[in-house]
Amino acid sequence: MTSKPQQAQPIGVFDSGIGGLTVVRALVERLPHENLVYFGDTARVPYGPKSPQVVREYAAQDTDFLVSHQVKMIVVACNTVSSVALEVVQKHSKVPVVGVIVPGARAAVSATKKKRIGVIGTVGTIASNAYANAIRQFDASAEVIGQACPLFVPLAEEGWIDHKATEMIAKEYLFPLKLQKIDTLVLGCTHYPILENVIRTVVDGVTLIDSGKATASDVEQVLEEQHLRNPSRLKGNVQFFVSDIPYRFSEIGERFLGHTLGKVRRAEGFF
Ligand code: DGL
Repeated sequence: MTSKPQQAQPIGVFDSGIGGLTVVRALVERLPHENLVYFGDTARVPYGPKSPQVVREYAAQDTDFLVSHQVKMIVVACNTVSSVALEVVQKHSKVPVVGVIVPGARAAVSATKKKRIGVIGTVGTIASNAYANAIRQFDASAEVIGQACPLFVPLAEEGWIDHKATEMIAKEYLFPLKLQKIDTLVLGCTHYPILENVIRTVVDGVTLIDSGKATASDVEQVLEEQHLRNPSRLKGNVQFFVSDIPYRFSEIGERFLGHTLGKVRRAEGFF
């Protein structure tokens, strides 16, 4: 079979900031030969508390940036954007677009036994009901209980992974979900996999769904179906772009990515 020219082109990934590096990590683990271009809108993060209208505007600009890098596919790593602006991304690009909501919802439905699923995310993600709607598309009888956990974002960035304060806050957020007898919990925010251990301690016995990991598996499937997989056997490269390089960027980024970041460029002419 002859290889299509776009197969060697990179997959574009974007997020409101650094958090999407947890999705990059999952993609690199699953698809080590793919090249990636990452854009994090670090100048305007967080998107979680912003109105859907503003998030849509930002999402359109983030998409245009990736399109200008000739990406063969776009992965919307940000749960907030995936919840309220996926169609904006689709409108602004001609390539396949994968968000994190549908893969996370599908993984939750296949994991739950009691059909009682908790979803945690930003205020915007939970208010949109995007996960609940997607879960019910897969199983109309599933019960979905949402909980916004906005303080998890700064705690993950601060690296307070084993901190008593994080455990107390996690208890405050997650006990109501425990009382609702959930057996599955979707980590519906890029930052939450960083706090996986403390979350697991608080909701002991509940299956945790990492929406980023679920998304990497969907991305693989789309690449297969559309014959877009990079045939190269070499390790893919990842280019990092951000709209600002804030204090402690590398330290935080490395925690999210799991290894050193390498070169990070400021997105030229983004504003
Ligand atoms: N990346 C965002 C998300 O997954 C979390 C950070 C933010 O609020 O922008 O929803």
